[in-house]
Amino acid sequence: MSELRLRTDLDAVPEYRQGKGAPAGEGAVMIKLSSNENPYPPLASVSQAVAGRLDRFNRYPETAAPELTTALSERFSVDAANFVFGAGSVEIISQLIRATSGEGDEVLFAWRSFEAYPMLVRAAGATPVEVPLTTEHAHDLDAMLAAITPRTRLILVCNPNNPTGTTIGADELKSFISRVPSHIVVVVDEAYLHFNRRQDSPVGVELFRRFPNVAVAHTFSKAYGLAGLRVGYAIAPAHLAAAMRKVAVPFGVTGLAQAAAVASLAAEAELQERVDALIAERERVVGALTLAGWRLPETQANFLWFPLGGDTAAAVEVFEEFGVLVRGFGGEGLRATIAETEGNDRVLLAAAALVERGLTGGLTDAQA
Ligand SMILES: Cc1ncc(COP(=O)(O)O)c(C=O)c1O
Repeated sequence: MSELRLRTDLDAVPEYRQGKGAPAGEGAVMIKLSSNENPYPPLASVSQAVAGRLDRFNRYPETAAPELTTALSERFSVDAANFVFGAGSVEIISQLIRATSGEGDEVLFAWRSFEAYPMLVRAAGATPVEVPLTTEHAHDLDAMLAAITPRTRLILVCNPNNPTGTTIGADELKSFISRVPSHIVVVVDEAYLHFNRRQDSPVGVELFRRFPNVAVAHTFSKAYGLAGLRVGYAIAPAHLAAAMRKVAVPFGVTGLAQAAAVASLAAEAELQERVDALIAERERVVGALTLAGWRLPETQANFLWFPLGGDTAAAVEVFEEFGVLVRGFGGEGLRATIAETEGNDRVLLAAAALVERGLTGGLTDAQA
């Protein structure tokens, strides 16, 4: 037994489980659909921007990310003081939690949602309060309001929600925020914003403009395809932004990541074509599954949620049989990222096999 004195409250924190990786090397046939990544390789202009910085990484990056701040500030017409950067939006969420909440404070979020939320809350010494999703796998905003206590400091709203893909309407979210006491920070995590085609979708930055207690978390990992470079940002009230910078990991966003993000913003039209292609694939897959009798929650993200309950573990193996790695959440369901055609076709084949083998968690009208 080690004598090292560690924080005992961390015993309750599970280690982050990364989506399974495809085996490396020649002959690898598995397609990785387990981490909601962008399947396309980096754009040439983005790679060039990164290559243009390769002679300077002996120096620390600029913490304030000046070029990136200017580009985002112009894009959103938001003051530079409202931007905070982090090593992915996961670090942004961590900053938001640690800037607002410590021991004895509560952080509220829907569950199931992004797996890192409870871990980050516990790591900050605060208490996670998980409010179950509705039977439709969506945020239960009334139940979340009812769960607010005098100890609540922060509310995380994931729209679209990971892993269910469900969304919240603009009126619904505005009404929710207007009923949250104004000393509580509401974070709208829009990691999958670009994939959300819901007509009446709320726009996080507009909520930030309208409500003094709203912050938005954005990432370059998903639609922009920079998951491996780690860059995300918050648009937050200036006072909160300043507090977030105090708890940020110093120099957390590398110069390479900053350059890639600036170049990605400049290449938005090209990236949009890829997002459109992924959305078209999503529609194709959802259409085929619906035709086959599946009744899945409506997704507005780059992934599908199969709430298979007790059939989940066996179903994950069936997907692997068909050459795709998906993300299973034991006893609840599995999440499959929408990728390029081949991976999506394999998902359809695996789903058909689930029907044949009766592993549908009661989610389909289809007969084997
Ligand atoms: C809802 C949500 N928020 C934030 C993140 C964090 O992404 P990153 O740290 O790569 O920006 C993820 C990643 O999967 C996510 O699903």
